[in-house]
Amino acid sequence: MSAAEITSIKNLTPDSVADWNVERIRADFPVLRQTVNGKPLVYLDNAASSQVPQVVIDRGSIYLEHEHSNIHRGVHYLSMKATTAYEDAREKVRRFINAREARECIFVRGTTEGINLVMHGCGRKFIGKGDEIIISAMEHHANIVPWQMLCEEKGARLRVIPINDSGELLLDEYDAQLNERTKIVAVTHVSNALGTINPIKEMIERAHKYGVPVLIDGAQSAPHMPIDVQDLDCDFYTFSGHKMFAPTGSGVVYGKAKLLEEMNPFQGGGDMIKSVTFEKTIYADLPNRFEAGTPAIASQIGLGAAIDYLNSIGRKQAAIHEQELLRYATERLSTIEGVRIIGTAREKASVLSFVIENIHPHDIGTILDQEGIAVRAGHHCAQPVMRRFNVAATARASFAFYNTKAEVDVLARTIENVIDIFS
Ligand SMILES: Cc1ncc(COP(=O)(O)O)c(C=O)c1O
Repeated sequence: MSAAEITSIKNLTPDSVADWNVERIRADFPVLRQTVNGKPLVYLDNAASSQVPQVVIDRGSIYLEHEHSNIHRGVHYLSMKATTAYEDAREKVRRFINAREARECIFVRGTTEGINLVMHGCGRKFIGKGDEIIISAMEHHANIVPWQMLCEEKGARLRVIPINDSGELLLDEYDAQLNERTKIVAVTHVSNALGTINPIKEMIERAHKYGVPVLIDGAQSAPHMPIDVQDLDCDFYTFSGHKMFAPTGSGVVYGKAKLLEEMNPFQGGGDMIKSVTFEKTIYADLPNRFEAGTPAIASQIGLGAAIDYLNSIGRKQAAIHEQELLRYATERLSTIEGVRIIGTAREKASVLSFVIENIHPHDIGTILDQEGIAVRAGHHCAQPVMRRFNVAATARASFAFYNTKAEVDVLARTIENVIDIFS
């Protein structure tokens, strides 16, 4: 979603969000019906893992009851059924991100594996001594550590785009860092710790002026906004199924076919070869070349079902509802004395990180849990972000389209109680 689209969503009147029948949507998610510590569950940890609708659960059951078999290798009925379902899921992914071809969508276990695949396949082949890799100061560890490992191995240099006090990237600094030594830019679309939506289209354009490929960490964007990899013109885009209403173990790394074809395979093994002798292995074509061994068949089929579900409810309407929840929650928490929101960028996704004076985020999380509210407390695998804002940790509420304003009210009231308890 472009910044302009987000802005137009923000400017919508309450009437335009009233269409969203949140209770009907909630009925699709069995996990939300339970109580925790005697209170209705208020699930606000969606940036870590989102919940799974009944249709996705049912699709997994159908696979296990009627289709379970290994893919690609069998000539028997079940194997062909499983292969068709798995490849159908790939085609759904292709349409979901508007990739040109299904073979550009590689199934991986999640974003971490997607980034590691690009680091090993592309980075280790094309990056050498004295080359530079640009990331940003708001990356998840998954988009820092692999590049650091590569720098250590090759003698390359990691450059980091700094952020301002609101949690926005300093694009002038980015411009200054880009040069003929830059070999890849790897940047998150949405920060999991701050909620910032980065202007990635513009950033990709600037990198391409130097012929530099760009990898987008889409872990926090794919679940919450329409993605069009052709329009973005990104070279790689990766995301995790478990953050977008699908089972764990599912995920995708998209890559432009031309680049994927030039890359080294990530792992070696079955299913990624055309022929093997002790002298030489000929690798399979895309996408199999990057999918060694038996993949998470049921999970990826589940991801396909989650995509169907998202399309059926309307991704744009879902995004509008989430923006409204973010606006409302920001307004509510801003009025509570002692609460400081970390991450106040102009363009934000539905992530609200906060600290409370003299109360450790783990204590906040524990007391909220006693009231049935699930938030995350910690460094969110983004320790450099914590350091930038001079905090050890934050509490983080992250919203999905099934959350309600009433839940935000429960959160705000309970935070007030937390402050009372510690005062
Ligand atoms: C921005 C971002 N990148 C990468 C990851 C890693 O995702 P996964 O653990 O699914 O591989 C996360 C998970 O929280 C994330 O938020």
